[in-house]
Formats: sequence, C-alpha cells, structure tokens
Amino acid sequence: MGIRKELKNSGDVEDFIQGEVERIREVVGEKRVICALSGGVDSSVAALLVHRAVGDQLVCVFVDHGLLRKNEGEEVRRIFESQHNIDLRHVDAKDRFFTKLKSVDNPEKKRKVIGEEFIRVFEEEAEKLGDISYLVQGTLYSDVAESGTKDSAGVKSHHNVGGLPEDMEFQLIEPLRSLLKDEVRRVGEGLGLSQEIVQRQPFPGPGLAIRIAGDVTEEKVRIVRHADSIVTQEIGDAGLPIWQAFAILLDIKSVGVTENRRTYAYPVVVRVVDSRDAMTAHWTRLPHELMERISHRITREVDGVNRVLLDITSKPPATIEWE
Ligand code: XMP
Repeated sequence: MGIRKELKNSGDVEDFIQGEVERIREVVGEKRVICALSGGVDSSVAALLVHRAVGDQLVCVFVDHGLLRKNEGEEVRRIFESQHNIDLRHVDAKDRFFTKLKSVDNPEKKRKVIGEEFIRVFEEEAEKLGDISYLVQGTLYSDVAESGTKDSAGVKSHHNVGGLPEDMEFQLIEPLRSLLKDEVRRVGEGLGLSQEIVQRQPFPGPGLAIRIAGDVTEEKVRIVRHADSIVTQEIGDAGLPIWQAFAILLDIKSVGVTENRRTYAYPVVVRVVDSRDAMTAHWTRLPHELMERISHRITREVDGVNRVLLDITSKPPATIEWE
C-alpha cells in the first residue's frame, strides 16, 4: 500500500505538490493523459496536479452516467472549462449505464458494473482522441485501505479500485494515493482550486446508484436526486460544518395519507455524518427544527415519497454509504 507521509503544514503541502508535479512529468514524458473528472474533490485535485505537470497533454473526460447530483454536470463544465482552462469532454452515457444496471440489485455487482462501464466509456473516448497512455484517478488512501489489502479486510470495492476490469488498457496515475481527504483539500487550495470544489462533500464514483437500495431505475434516481438536493440545500443554508449529508432511497413502501387519501410510497433516509477521513464517522445531531423542515419538504416536494427516516448510526458499525 506504500508508506503514508502525513501533510502536517503548508510547507508539506507545497513539497507534496512540487514532488508530484516532478514525478508526473517524469513518468508521462511527452505522452498524453486522460482524466476521469467527476467534479468531486479527489478527481478535481488529481486533474489540477496533472494539469500543472503536463498542461495540454491532459484531456479530462466528464462522464455523465445519469447517477449524478442535481446540476452537477453544468457546474463542472463552468469551473474546469472557464476557470481552469482544462480541455474537458462531456460524455452523455446515461442510457448505457441504465441498460447495464437493469435488474442489478446487489451492491457489489452495481459497483463492478458501473466501474467497468466507466472504463469502457473512457477507452472509447481515448480511442477517439488518439494516442493516450495514462489514466489519472483521484484514488485516496482510504479507498485503497478499504478495498482490501494485506492488512484490512475488504469492506466494499470502491469504484476507483475494485471496479477496474483486468484487461484495462491504460496505465494508472494516482497522485493522491497516500492522502486522506482533509489533506487532499489542502492540496486543492494550494493549487488554487475554488472553495466551491474544495469544500464539496465527498460523492462516490458509482453515484446515486449506491444510494438506492435494490435495483436502479430512472424513476428512483429522480426521487433520490430530488430528495438529496433538499437535504444538501437545507443543511447548507443552516451553515452546519458537516462532512456529508445526503438521502438514500429504500426498496420498500409504506402506507401514508395525504389530503385524506391513502398513499403507498417509498421512504427516504437522511444520512448526516461528521468525519475527518471517512475511515470512521459519527452521526450528526441535527437541530429538531432543521429535521422537521427537511422531512416536511421531502414529503411535500418529492413525488413518490411519503416518509422520512433518520440514520443514527456511526461508522463503525455502519459505513457512510448504504452500499
Ligand atoms: P463508506 O461508505 O465506505 O464511505 O464508509 C467512505 C467515504 O468514501 C465515499 N465512497 C466512495 N468514494 N468511490 C469514491 O470515490 C466509491 O466507490 C466510494 N464509495 C464510498 C463515501 O461517500 C464516503 O465519503
């Protein structure tokens, strides 16, 4: 797994940036690099590092797998194309992903299917672009540690690691492999990345698919995305310094009543946690008024939901995501 050197102060951050930039230049030479830019902190910081090292030899590909949060695609374009002048290709691959995910309800299978399809999409884009040798990924220390190594049992196959097919055609560049999340944020700041991205909540590579218990359909994605936008907006407006806040859609229905009519609809779970590095996490004690507002808004605004639950489990024994 490699030796982990903590980034304790801004000097360490600068040294890290300098060291990685040099290392990437040396490895890449004149070759071209493709990056899986998701707009999350990890892939954004990885892309900026590589961009600093090899400039226009880097092409970023943003794959819209149809499992993103509200407005995510447009925001990524705005920030990376206009603020950072990065060559960004936007691929709409929704239909492919939904087809592959049809009737897949096992969490690990979902992760593998998505990870594999992701790489296929990249390979196709890379082929269109011509001679590309390297793939940049924003894999972190915690992703590597949790996907099963000699010293830790596999908890789940994180998208960046376990989902990769064996016959992948690129060589990997993973400059953040020794870092924890808060260190990545500091490296991002050191690279001039906007606070909007630096402070962004972690979002898993397989996206909303692993926040939908059971099989994934466009209708369920619509529901969980809408509920998620309400959770994030309300938590954001409340100005709470939390690690992650999101919604999960369950695979059961329950009876409710709206305007004197019986409903039979899905419950949404609200998950809000504090953490430093995602290895452990505590569930966040939210003010009651805020919980009330979230519950009220979700049940009123999101079609197909008639009940809101709160996840009051820390990690361990639970994980942050449900799948
Ligand atoms: P868990 O659920 O394992 O999540 O406690 C720990 C942190 O990692 C994020 N996560 C992922 N990030 N690809 C990623 O890039 C993944 O496949 C993945 N799965 C979980 C999760 O959101 C949390 O912050």
